[in-house]
Amino acid sequence: MSISFKRTLECALEAPRNIPARDLAGMLSCNDKSVVADLFAAANEVSKKCSKVLLKRALIEFSNICSRDCYYCGIRKSSPLINRYHMTIEELLKVSEEAKEEGFTAIALQGGEIESEANTAFVEEFLSRVDIPEITLSLGEQTTDVYKRWKDAAKGKLLRYLLRIETSSTELFSKIHPPEASFNKRLGAIRKLKSLDYITGSGVMIGLPGQAIDDLANDIVFFGDEKLDMVGMGPYIPCDSTPLQAPTFSSQERLELSLKMIALTRLYLWDVNIVSSTALEVLSSGARDIALRVGANVIMPNFTPNKYRLEYQLYPGKQQIK
Ligand code: 5AD
Repeated sequence: MSISFKRTLECALEAPRNIPARDLAGMLSCNDKSVVADLFAAANEVSKKCSKVLLKRALIEFSNICSRDCYYCGIRKSSPLINRYHMTIEELLKVSEEAKEEGFTAIALQGGEIESEANTAFVEEFLSRVDIPEITLSLGEQTTDVYKRWKDAAKGKLLRYLLRIETSSTELFSKIHPPEASFNKRLGAIRKLKSLDYITGSGVMIGLPGQAIDDLANDIVFFGDEKLDMVGMGPYIPCDSTPLQAPTFSSQERLELSLKMIALTRLYLWDVNIVSSTALEVLSSGARDIALRVGANVIMPNFTPNKYRLEYQLYPGKQQIK
């Protein structure tokens, strides 16, 4: 292994945030098998040093109705190909109960992004009625008032919120979103969640068309600067019905980059929860398990009822994965 990569890993094992952005980028572009193996081993060592244990959260995708038109997403507002659904409160409580019976103490509630009183009140009612100790919400950008209402409704439960920034590059952000989407507004929402004492997570997509290795290195620095408690990121999977096509990276490259991003995020942040995403499994069967050995420690098995799962296709291949 080259002296400089060896030194980079040694420094990373000494303290958190001990890798300069240019070395993060260097590691991301390095394809030397022995360097990558050492990177993965170092990330695993940090996971152990920080006593990271495997956390399991039952994922329930309760609605695919979305007001957003993100260029990469299969459930975007203009997608003509899907039937829209919204589970009832009773269905949602029943699925949560099933997860509990299977031993889950945590669920992750995900849905299309809707800002409406009906949606706010629905989630509020669910949070106050569900009998599960830990809940992660992934319901997009909302006003401070809405975030506060959900926090109040979940009193006595541990509440997390995952709001991906998608990319920390403002330039790339504007290329993958329609003009009405605002990077600053999204970042503002992440900061708002933190200030309201949500356990806050964010993340990015890896291998987007036009994304540079330096962008990915900057994403890791961004996670540190925003002092996130949780990082959820995964490879970009092109989706036929969307305007964003032709990834810059092959699927093998996106897989390798994603695993390196996970390992480097663990090495850079140390004590943080990192999700092993479903999108990894779409690229290669077993990839989620590999991610758990190179820095990730959260897994989110899908509990969305089968009859809805086909319609929550953020990207192709997703619905087959449990
Ligand atoms: N490929 C990979 N991830 C995607 N997401 C949406 N569309 C895709 C895609 N085509 C991710 C986004 C979003 C999360 C719910 O799913 O990061 O925040």
